[in-house]
Formats: sequence, structure tokens, C-alpha cells
Amino acid sequence: MPKAKIAVVPGDGIGKEVIPAALKVVEASGAPVEFTAFDWSADRYLKDGTTIPPDGFTMLDRDFDAIFVGALGDPRVATNIHAKEILLGMRFKMDLYANVRPVKLLDESLCPLKGVKPEHVDFVVVRENTEGPYVDAGGVLKQGTPDEIATQEDFNTRKGVERVVRYAFELARKQGRKKVLMSDKSNVMTFAGGLWQRVFKIVAAEYPDIQTQHMYVDALCMHMARDPKQFDVIVTNNMFGDIITDLAAALQGGLGMAASGNIHPGKTSMFEPVHGSAPPFAGKNIANPIGAISTAAMMLDHLGFAAEAGRINQAVLAAVQHKKTTADIGGSLGTKECAEWIASNL
Ligand code: NAD
Ligand code: IPM
Ligand code: MN
Repeated sequence: MPKAKIAVVPGDGIGKEVIPAALKVVEASGAPVEFTAFDWSADRYLKDGTTIPPDGFTMLDRDFDAIFVGALGDPRVATNIHAKEILLGMRFKMDLYANVRPVKLLDESLCPLKGVKPEHVDFVVVRENTEGPYVDAGGVLKQGTPDEIATQEDFNTRKGVERVVRYAFELARKQGRKKVLMSDKSNVMTFAGGLWQRVFKIVAAEYPDIQTQHMYVDALCMHMARDPKQFDVIVTNNMFGDIITDLAAALQGGLGMAASGNIHPGKTSMFEPVHGSAPPFAGKNIANPIGAISTAAMMLDHLGFAAEAGRINQAVLAAVQHKKTTADIGGSLGTKECAEWIASNL
């Protein structure tokens, strides 16, 4: 069987540590994959001005089965231009419209909420990934004057909303989940919210086996911190999805634990931990590699290597239960050592 080809972009900061750590685990899993590394990052940008080469997205789509990214963002690049072009470039130009962020508590000790057990935190956020204010449309008038005006436009298309809502229902069916909740702010953002509301109803009608619910995003945040067990699948727009998944990451033990996939079914998709480059943590071998390792498992599962992915998830669970982890979740191991423990306990 030919090996699956994976493009690897460690990126900046702790991305450069958690990605090699996760690759060790993937190698130990025996999954038939091969990696090609790309140095797109702040270092590369500062060296020769390259963010991603002009044919980069076409090449990734054509030559690879998946992309594995660490994080992008570096205080030396104040404009964040390289992160925008590389990370948002992949999401937008490769049309990876569903940002799937599973939220699963592995051990009671990791949840900051009282009495919340693993079975109480097990849901998936499906975040729209190609629209919203992220399209970077807008502008500034009279800059630097007291009359300055800044606009940032929120794009919502019928096609874009419909496909991500449908993805959420399909995911619910595939994973045997019972309910899809759509979250918006349609009480204030009436035009965009109105579209989401109408499309959600139309698509939901095709899935009579799945329950539906709606929650304004502010209320959703309150419920997430108060009673997370009510959630199953949440679908929402790009901006709200970004915000609620950091909150959701906290329920799992922090950003170091959260995984994600940027998916367009049938196309080369991109997988990355939810966390960023965490500059204060970089180069110290203290970053938690579990978000990246769980992301790698998600990628393997997506590529059809469910058995290898399952073994990785089991070993991650064992690491958490035996406290063979980094300090952010109560262990005393370094990034490398945590990943090595997981690799040798597959
Ligand atoms: P961040 O996720 O990098 O870090 C926030 C905090 O979360 C850290 O200070 C740390 O306490 C914790 N944390 C994150 N990852 C961790 C890990 N693996 N182990 C242990 N603790 C961890 O977010 P930030 O500080 O807001 O952003 C830093 C840079 O990263 C910025 O340039 C930002 O734009 C970028 N960023 C990139 C991505 C991405 O590439 N996907 C995502 C988020 C932020
Ligand atoms: C994320 C990040 C990105 C986002 C940034 C770095 C552009 O916060 O993946 O959650 O806002 O989507
Ligand atoms: Mn984010």
C-alpha cells in the first residue's frame, strides 16, 4: 500500500517542539505515512520574505493527503502577515470550510469545574472556517484623525452557511450524536443571524433523526461554564467558533489539550492543535504536546488509519491518568519526555 503523504509545517514558537514530538508518536504507531517538512514560519519570513511560495496551496492540494501544522505567530512579526498568509491562507485558499474542534475531558482532575466528570464533557464544535470577519474586508478612513473610521465586514454566504451546517449534521450522524445546536447573535446581528437561522431550519429538516437547538452565543458561554454536559454538536460562525473553542479548551485542561481539523471532505485537509505559538513557553521543553498528538490522531483517523489513531488516543489517556504529562496539567515531564512516554505505551 502506498504511504499517505503528509506535509508538515511546525511554524513558530512551541509549534517547533510539539510537532516533532507528535511525529515521534505517529511513527511509533506504525501508521503508513511519510512526512515532508516545510519551514514556513516567522524565521523564514524574516530571512527572505517568504510566507508561503506562490504555488504553495496548489502544491499542497496536489501532492499531499493531509497537512499537519504547529502554530504561527511571532512577536517579531508585528503585522502577523506570515500567519495570515500561511494559516488563514490554507483555510481560505484551500477552502477548508469546516473547522472541527472536539472537546473531550480525559480525566476529572483536568476540568476546572467542580464535580465535572469525563462523561460530562464530550462534544464537538464545528466552526465555519472560510467566511465572517476573517475575510479581511473593510478599511480605514481618515486614519490618525479624531474622525477615524474603521470597518470590518462580516461575510456570510448562503453556500458557506449551508455547507458547514450540513457538515455538522453529517458529523452528528457519523459519530452517533443526537443533537446539533446552532449558536449565533441573531438578536443583534439580524442580517447574518437571519441567514444562519433560515438555513439551519432548512438543513435540519433533512435530518429528522437529529434534535436541534439554538442558543445565543453569550448564553452559550454561560452554559458551557455551568453545565457542559448538555452539548453534543455545536455549529457556529468563524468568529464565535474561535472564541468558544478557547473556552471549551479550558474545560479539557487548557489549550495544551485541544485538537482540531480544518476539513473539506474529499480535499487535502489541514490539522493543527488549537493553541498558538505561546512565545513565553517556546524553546523550554515545557509545552504540552497532547494537543498536537491528539490532532495527529485525528488526522490519521481522517486518512483511514482508525486503529493507529485509536491506539494513540488510548496512550494519551493513559499518560493523563498516570500523570506522565507536562506541568500545565499536573505532571512533571518535558514536552519530549511526555511524547516519548506516549510513543512507548502505544
Ligand atoms: P497561545 O495559545 O499561544 O497561548 C496562550 C496560553 O495558553 C499560553 O500562555 C499558555 O498558558 C497556554 N498554552 C498554549 N499552548 C500550550 C501548550 N501546548 N502547553 C501548555 N500551555 C499552553 O495564544 P496567544 O498567547 O494568544 O498567542 C500567541 C501567538 O500564537 C500569537 O501570535 C497568536 O496570533 C498565535 N496563535 C496561533 C494559532 C495557530 O497558529 N493556530 C492559534 C492561536 C494563536
Ligand atoms: C485559532 C487561532 C487563529 C484564529 C488565529 C491565529 C488566526 O486563534 O486557530 O483558533 O483566529 O482562527
Ligand atoms: Mn483561536
